[in-house]
Amino acid sequence: MSTIVIYKTKYGSTKQYAEWISEDLGCDAVDAKNVKVDDLLGYDTIIYGGGLYAEVINGVSLITRNIDKLRDKKIIVYTTGITPSDVREYYDGEVIDKNFKKGVPENIKIFNFLGKMIQKELTPVHYAAIVSLKKIMSAKKNPSDMVKLLLELCDADGDFSDRKYIKELVEYAKEN
Ligand SMILES: Cc1cc2nc3c(=O)[nH]c(=O)nc-3n(C[C@H](O)[C@H](O)[C@H](O)COP(=O)(O)O)c2cc1C
Repeated sequence: MSTIVIYKTKYGSTKQYAEWISEDLGCDAVDAKNVKVDDLLGYDTIIYGGGLYAEVINGVSLITRNIDKLRDKKIIVYTTGITPSDVREYYDGEVIDKNFKKGVPENIKIFNFLGKMIQKELTPVHYAAIVSLKKIMSAKKNPSDMVKLLLELCDADGDFSDRKYIKELVEYAKEN
């Protein structure tokens, strides 16, 4: 059974998880920018990781656009983000709707991990996006729970990544 981990990262969190997963599985972890879909055809299990940016899984179109070519593969997609676990069930549904418009194909399983957001490391574009989101959300009268959550997330500042989160993914990847 050959396995590969591919990741797309902006601040390093998704890469960190890719390295932990590849260590546990004894396989390579490769930056998605160096990968084309045809490079994946020789593997049985493909693990794709991307950070969440406005609910979009960074770079996941490498998988979703090529799903026909990857039909016979076992595919695992993991996300990293700062959404806390108590709202994940609701939130993960939103992420699925946005990234898998036709629903999640049967050969794909998704895992979601806490990542990192260090305010002082944000690019000017990302910082501006967070400030503008905060402004829009703060102006809402009678904010919904989701709006309150987004406001809270805009202020998140820290690295919440933890190797312990990959356990279930690694076990699933090892299953035949
Ligand atoms: C502009 C911006 C938008 C973000 N949007 C989301 C989001 O929709 N959901 C989420 O859980 N985290 C969100 N995050 C947090 C990132 O997903 C998190 O920092 C992730 O670990 C980044 O992974 P990477 O460093 O590997 O790219 C956002 C961060 C930024 C800067």
